[in-house]
Amino acid sequence: QHAPVLLPSLLACDFANLASEVKAIEAAGAHALHLDVMDGHFVPNLSFGLPVVEAIRALTDLPLDVHLMIDNPAEYAQRYRDAGADCITVHAEVLDDPRPLLEEIRASGALAGLSLNPPTPLEQILPALPHCDLVLVMSVMPGFGGQQFDPVALEKLSRLRDDPDCRALLEVDGGVNQSTIARCTAAGADLLVAGTAVFGADDYCERVDSLNRLARS
Ligand code: DX5
Ligand code: ZN
Repeated sequence: QHAPVLLPSLLACDFANLASEVKAIEAAGAHALHLDVMDGHFVPNLSFGLPVVEAIRALTDLPLDVHLMIDNPAEYAQRYRDAGADCITVHAEVLDDPRPLLEEIRASGALAGLSLNPPTPLEQILPALPHCDLVLVMSVMPGFGGQQFDPVALEKLSRLRDDPDCRALLEVDGGVNQSTIARCTAAGADLLVAGTAVFGADDYCERVDSLNRLARS
């Protein structure tokens, strides 16, 4: 098993200085970036869309992990791939059968991710597991950074980790910080999204190091 990977979420960065934020987080040792796309329908908030993903693509060679919190991901997945996404995650709550879209994402050359909100039972995504390169377990209701970690995610992560049919990478998102990150990796998370915990720090380098140390402890 490889070391867990921290994915800073740019949702918590200073958008007025996007280029310097991306450079700073890259210099701090981030291995990939998590980009939160929100449509004001699936979640009660709007963030950014295609032009901003394209702009970030032009700024960095880091892998871009695009989290689509939108009602109609099938209409947009290819466009986010074209904009430079390396991984595209869609929500189970808006898809009757996520399998065709996951396969379409794979065929486009990106990793295909499937996410579920805290109230969504794990059973709902089990039939789609063979079509997932990653499963994104939400530990908050999506829409906003800075919320409190919901431990329901830990139970889902452990069950996925112990499921011999699950070969997907396991990602966790929401309220991941210095006090919750070790429990996430202990439960089996490979990929750890952190917004506020990273961009709220004065020294990104020190914060990335300490989160990585805790994740590997
Ligand atoms: C929540 C987003 C998260 C968010 C996490 O809707 O999916 O990726 O940026 O923010 P923190 O780490 O502050 O909970
Ligand atoms: Zn996210």
